Amino acid sequence: MPRKILVTSALPYANGAIHLGHLVEYIQTDIWVRFQKMSGNECWYVCADDTHGTPIMLRAEKEGISPEQLIERVHGEHARDFAGFGVGFDNYHTTHSPETQACANDIYLKLKAAGLIEVRTIEQYFDPVKQMFLPDRFIKGECPKCHAKDQYGDNCEVCGAAYAPTDLIEPYSAVSGAKPELRHSDHYFFKLSDARCESFLRRYTARDNGVLQPEAANKMQEWLGEPGENRLTDWDISRDAPYFGFEIPDAPGKYFYVWLDAPIGYMGSFRNLCERLGLDFAEWFTPGSQTELYHFIGKDILYFHALFWPAELEHAGYRTPTKIFAHGFLTVDGAKMSKSRGTFITAQSYLYTGLNPEWLRYYYAAKLSATMEDIDLSLEDFVARVNSDLVGKYVNIASRSAGFIAKRFNGLLAPADADLPAIRAIQEAAPRIAELYEAREFGKAVREIMALNDAANQYVDSVKPWELAKQAGRDAELHAACSNALNLFRLLTVLLKPILPVVAGKVEQFMNLAPLAWRDAGSLLAAGHAINAYEHLMTRVDPKLIDKLVEANKESLAPVPAAPSPQRHAEHQQNVAAAETTGAALCTIDDFMKVDLRIARIANAEHVEGADKLVRLTLDIGDGRPRNVFAGIKAAYDPALLVGRLTVMVANLAPRKMKFGLSEGMVLAASDGDGRVPGLYLLAPDSGAQPGMRVK
Ligand code: MSP
Ligand code: ZN
Repeated sequence: MPRKILVTSALPYANGAIHLGHLVEYIQTDIWVRFQKMSGNECWYVCADDTHGTPIMLRAEKEGISPEQLIERVHGEHARDFAGFGVGFDNYHTTHSPETQACANDIYLKLKAAGLIEVRTIEQYFDPVKQMFLPDRFIKGECPKCHAKDQYGDNCEVCGAAYAPTDLIEPYSAVSGAKPELRHSDHYFFKLSDARCESFLRRYTARDNGVLQPEAANKMQEWLGEPGENRLTDWDISRDAPYFGFEIPDAPGKYFYVWLDAPIGYMGSFRNLCERLGLDFAEWFTPGSQTELYHFIGKDILYFHALFWPAELEHAGYRTPTKIFAHGFLTVDGAKMSKSRGTFITAQSYLYTGLNPEWLRYYYAAKLSATMEDIDLSLEDFVARVNSDLVGKYVNIASRSAGFIAKRFNGLLAPADADLPAIRAIQEAAPRIAELYEAREFGKAVREIMALNDAANQYVDSVKPWELAKQAGRDAELHAACSNALNLFRLLTVLLKPILPVVAGKVEQFMNLAPLAWRDAGSLLAAGHAINAYEHLMTRVDPKLIDKLVEANKESLAPVPAAPSPQRHAEHQQNVAAAETTGAALCTIDDFMKVDLRIARIANAEHVEGADKLVRLTLDIGDGRPRNVFAGIKAAYDPALLVGRLTVMVANLAPRKMKFGLSEGMVLAASDGDGRVPGLYLLAPDSGAQPGMRVK
């Protein structure tokens, strides 16, 4: 009986590009799903964009579009990237869908009926300028422990301390910069601390229940504490307007927190698929269902998937996941992916650079296991491994034998030798390799497959078709050798197909095969089978492409002009405008906060002997240390009229030695980059601003 299997990968956030870290998960899942489908099981792979929450709302606002427009655009980008890497979802939906909303409402109302929802008043920081409650990540301030400045509201990136946003010293809103106020609000909680949840979760996450990997089960038991300890705290599932999400059915102005509806998005996506294909949704989600449900996730979101989600499903009357598979994080060359080093590599840039997506699928497969250990993409090793394994070992078998069959034997195969040790080795190994795929031990599977490849190559080396071809009267031997080699190649292709679907498709085409299924590893081609002309299957990785890829992902901050020159200033303005309209290289709030802008009083202004553009300004920023700044504003301003005025200066610009003296900063002025509107306009604050005030 074929198994009925529903598989998901975590839903990527709809406010960022897919990168090589994400792809670890989607490629891992896709390989597993392809293996299941090849094995004859009914297997559905669904995913969606995770579209709700404050960051997406604010991002859309920053881009000047509606959240709906943003998530639609990103949905297209994500779908394109996944397709590019051969990730074959049966449905790629969105959480912003009627199906997900219906499921979310249903689960919420059932939990409420079960007495597991509670309303409580909480105190939370509120941004009085932006008129919204602030998530922890949008509050910054000084770390209460090490006093590092500009740390997030939940933990300090300098000393690692975890704390509540109310512990921050001098907190400010990362959205508006305003000082946040504590305000009260009613929030909805899922009562995870309820005894029913605790006892269910203890059973569900226990090591011997087998739902979680051993290391994940251990971690959950740690989170649960000793029986009776009741360590679980209730989970806040509501957010106040303005929020991009689903309004809670019986609570106007309150929205489901994004993590409430995100996993429900798995159901929503599947429900959408069921409706399209006429599948029976209830069969898959009723308690006691004979179908299997698997979630592939990263280890960072284990808590949500192993505690909240199963507890919700259980108490809302749905089946719970069969297993949860967590994987580790991707590092590149042994370190966290980094934008400045160019190792924060987007899926799109990989495809644009012209790298073959199946190279990465193969490399990841070779590195993946069933554990939560991190996996490293070593760029040098990537090139070496793909070239030696895929091109040197695998493709080589076909490229050394297919031509002779076409040229000398009319494209027709001789019978294969079923007793050939290399052939028998593959057929004996196939069930073992199937178990490794099933157990997500892809690295071990790849090692076995490559050992079988070695054996196949040894066979070809021993019979030397290229020498037989030169000798008269050895046609039958040549025919047999090449036919055996192509049979070996076909068998190896079966084993690699979950990892290399595109190459396998080309092999099916050139060898004239029906789509290969796992059971084909047990058979050989009949004598007289006709193959088509050999088609080039895969090229070697050119290391230069890797350099190009890293270069393309290097993110450098747009250089701030080193000296006050109106020309450079205008150029800088243009770059900023270009970034905005092309959507490239946006400046984060962190980047922006690096620039120390201050209100300055022009204490003195005078002409500079011998300079036709410059004015020498003496700026007072309230610290008793006047700054000397040369500004290229002579054409627009009479120095005498500037004295006493307030303006804005960059106070932490590296000082620059000029012909006329040291310039210790820069004043801000507006000008039209295209020169259509003449002139230069010095910035001035509204009245009331004092020298030294920070501008942000
Ligand atoms: N939206 C949530 C998931 C909701 S699931 C109901 C989320 N999105 S994410 O875009 O940040 O991540 C999506 C998946 O990619 C997660 O499983 C995450 O662990 C995984 N990865 C993101 N970066 C990763 C690496 N650098 N390495 C490996 N996996 C990574 O979390
Ligand atoms: Zn700190």
